[in-house]
Amino acid sequence: MLDHYLKWVEQLEEALNTWGSIGVDGEYRAVVVGGMGGSGVVGDYLFLLSNSYGGLPVIVVKNHVPPRFISDRDLVIAVSYSGNTLETISFVKKINRVKDLVIVSSNGFLEKYCLENNIVFIKVPSEYVPRTALPYMLYSVLGLLDTSGYTIVSRRDADKAVDFLRNSIDSILSTGREIAEYIYRCSRNLVLAVHEPYGSLGVRGKNEFNENSKIPVKVEIAPEWMHNDIVGWEKPFTRDYCVLAIRDPGDRVGSMLIDYMLKIYGRNGFDTYVLELSGDNVLEKILYGSMVLGVSSIYLAEFRGVDPLVTESIVEYKGFAHSIFG
Ligand code: F6R
Repeated sequence: MLDHYLKWVEQLEEALNTWGSIGVDGEYRAVVVGGMGGSGVVGDYLFLLSNSYGGLPVIVVKNHVPPRFISDRDLVIAVSYSGNTLETISFVKKINRVKDLVIVSSNGFLEKYCLENNIVFIKVPSEYVPRTALPYMLYSVLGLLDTSGYTIVSRRDADKAVDFLRNSIDSILSTGREIAEYIYRCSRNLVLAVHEPYGSLGVRGKNEFNENSKIPVKVEIAPEWMHNDIVGWEKPFTRDYCVLAIRDPGDRVGSMLIDYMLKIYGRNGFDTYVLELSGDNVLEKILYGSMVLGVSSIYLAEFRGVDPLVTESIVEYKGFAHSIFG
C-alpha cells in the first residue's frame, strides 16, 4: 500500500492535466463541502486553505443532513470516493434548493445519479482507497474553484507544490519511518498534538493511524487545548501515552504553543517526537505533513503485522448503515 502514497506526485500531475476543464458559472457567497472520512478531509483542507489564502468561505458538513441555511447562493460540493457512502448520498438527495451541485467520486451510486440528473461530475481514478486518493480529490476541487473564478490556490502555486513534493520524497520516507519506529518503540496510546491552522492535518493524521495502523489516537489542538485538554492532564486515569507533535517552524506563535504543550506532556512523563512541517507555504506544508503521516502509518502497520488496506470495522458499519439511512 506504500505504492499508493508513492504515487501522490503522479496523482497531482494527473489532476493538474485536467485543471481548467471543469468549472461552474454562478455568483456564490460560500462553498459547502459534504463528505465522510477520507473524502471529508477534502472539505477540511479546503477550509484550512481558504482561511489561509482567502477565497469563498468554506463550510464543511460531515453528516447526512445539509445545514438549513444553504440556499441557491451557495456552491455545494459532495465528495465520496466510492460514490456509495449513505450519509453523503442522503446529503446529496436533500440538496434541493441549490442551483449548483458538483459531485466528486470514482464510481458508484453517485456517478449514476449525476448522469441521470445532469449534475456536474468530477471523476477520480478508481485504483486507490479514499484516504490515498486525497491529492487527486483535493486538486480537482481546487482546480474547479480556480476555473470558476473563485481561486483559493492558483495554478502556479499548485504546480510549485507538486515540484516541492517530488523533491521531498526521500525526506518524507525517512521521516515517516522514523516516526513509525518511535510509535512502535513506545507502544502506547498516541496523542497527536498540533497547532492551528493545522488542526485538520492532525485529524487527518489520526485517521491515517486509525485506518492503516489500527490504533486509537487522541488529537489535541492548540490554542484551544490550553482551554480544556490541558486540565485533563492534571489527573489522568492513565499516563500510558506517547506524543507526536506537529509544528510549523515558520509560525512563531504556533511553535511557542507547541513548546508549551511539550512542557506539560514532559511533566506527565510522556515521550515526545516533533514533526517539523517542510514547505514554503500552507499548501506545501499540508501535502508534506499528510504524506509523512500516511507513509508513517503504513510502516507502523508493517511493524505491527496488520494489513493497512483492510478496514473491516468500516465495512461492518456500512452494512449496518443501510438500516439507519437506507
Ligand atoms: C478512507 C476510508 C473511509 C472512507 C469513508 C467514506 O480511506 O476508507 O474513511 O473515506 O468511509 O467513504 P467514501 O470516501 O467512499 O465516501
